[in-house]
Amino acid sequence: MNRSKIQNQLALFVSMVALATLLAPAGALAGDAAAGKTVYTVNCLSCHGETGKGDGPVGMVLQPPPRNFSIGEFKFDTNDDGKVGTDADLAGVITKGAGAFGGNQMMAPWGGMLSEDDIANVIAYIHTLKQ
Ligand code: HEC
Repeated sequence: MNRSKIQNQLALFVSMVALATLLAPAGALAGDAAAGKTVYTVNCLSCHGETGKGDGPVGMVLQPPPRNFSIGEFKFDTNDDGKVGTDADLAGVITKGAGAFGGNQMMAPWGGMLSEDDIANVIAYIHTLKQ
């Protein structure tokens, strides 16, 4: 097989993988932490900090401070199931803001800015910040 034929086959394979990813039913995949890192860097890092310690340039002056994701402990039970810090709870805070649950309003509602996929992805990324 010559070189360009191999390249063609490789291109076909790559596009089939891309298509399969696109066609995967919504919700079937857990959040994608790599994609979530971009969402985090653009929208969350200024407060929560590069390593998630709540020590971003804006976050340092807030009281109560931004959640420290390196500890992996959470406060709000946004779906009233008696547990805090489940992915559903985190999605609730990120979508509606902490103010909706009696917390710091500086943790704004992101529901209008981020898609459900963005939120699932950023939650997956937040989990990777736990040390
Ligand atoms: C302007 C600063 C700021 C930005 C930007 C920000 N946050 Fe927060 N965040 C906070 C603060 C402050 C708290 C703590 C709220 C409290 O304890 O009352 C918080 C808390 C949280 C919590 C903890 C919820 C819990 O139950 O403990 C999560 C999860 C969270 N933020 C996710 C995010 C995500 C994801 C983004 C980006 C899309 C983001 N935050 C952007 C300030 C910010």
